[in-house]
Amino acid sequence: MRGSAISEVVASKSKDYKAGEYVLATTGWTEFAIIKAKHVERLKLVGKHGIVPGDYQSVLGMTALTAYFGMINCGRIAEKPKGSTVVVSGAAGATGLIAGQIAKIYGMRVIGIAGGKQKCEFLKSVGFDEAVDYKSPTFYKDLCKVTPKFIDFFFDNTGGDILDACFKRAAFKSVFVICGAVSQYLKGKPVGPAYYTNIIAQRQRVEGFIVFDYESEYDSAREKLAEWYSQGKLTKQEHVVKGSVEELPQALQMLFDGKNTGKMVVHVDGASKAKL
Ligand SMILES: NC(=O)c1ccc[n+]([C@@H]2O[C@H](COP(=O)([O-])OP(=O)(O)OC[C@H]3O[C@@H](n4cnc5c(N)ncnc54)[C@H](OP(=O)(O)O)[C@@H]3O)[C@@H](O)[C@H]2O)c1
Repeated sequence: MRGSAISEVVASKSKDYKAGEYVLATTGWTEFAIIKAKHVERLKLVGKHGIVPGDYQSVLGMTALTAYFGMINCGRIAEKPKGSTVVVSGAAGATGLIAGQIAKIYGMRVIGIAGGKQKCEFLKSVGFDEAVDYKSPTFYKDLCKVTPKFIDFFFDNTGGDILDACFKRAAFKSVFVICGAVSQYLKGKPVGPAYYTNIIAQRQRVEGFIVFDYESEYDSAREKLAEWYSQGKLTKQEHVVKGSVEELPQALQMLFDGKNTGKMVVHVDGASKAKL
């Protein structure tokens, strides 16, 4: 299974990396991996801005980069007037949490959508202006209440009924960034939104993106994320599962069950070097 990991170099034939060093690489779900040096990233910001190696999974990780490029490059959030209404789904998850905080940095009024009262309270505690529980029977009414001027910008991680509700609340010339569709991944046949017709009436821009498109800009994005983090503008939140690689399938399932708040990380303890 594909997956990125902060790993210790145990042996190296490259002059660029030494045993004992910590690096970032797409190792997959495994205790040991042989990776070409050109596919390994150095944790350049460790020690700067208070960054520790683990931050390369959370506040500087792939999901944080996704939030960054989705908001800034794909959504062009800077073009929206300050105070515009921004809604983020999957807001208490790894990507959504950073996406919402970036919108706050850009001076927007930010509403998070998440499952359950506890997650909604957490979102408000980290600076979201409002939070709406999509599991509540009054979800759409609650969403309308906090979006009296409709939705100017939507960052979608979930798809499904939440996306549909946001199409229904779309403002004129609104931007919808389609980042993910977690509500659809386990369905045999994904279901699309009924109110997509508002794209026409409201002259919306709806655009999807993949973080890998911006690989050449990862370093500068990480610099910016680290700077915001050191200034207290970004809160880091990790959900750490400790154990072995055996925990990985259960941890993946936890994302679909909403068990995580923030970045889900599996900490693999003491892989035996005897297996090498
Ligand atoms: N475009 C890209 O390049 C890119 C890159 C990375 C990730 N993504 C996408 O970004 C999204 C978030 O990924 P992540 O890694 O940051 O995961 P995450 O948000 O940390 O975890 C997933 C969250 O989704 C919510 N969820 C699960 N089932 C749901 C449902 N049926 N309806 C509504 N919400 C549901 C759960 O929160 P609740 O408790 O609130 O339900 C869960 O905590 C995913 O769709 C992923 O595919 C896209």
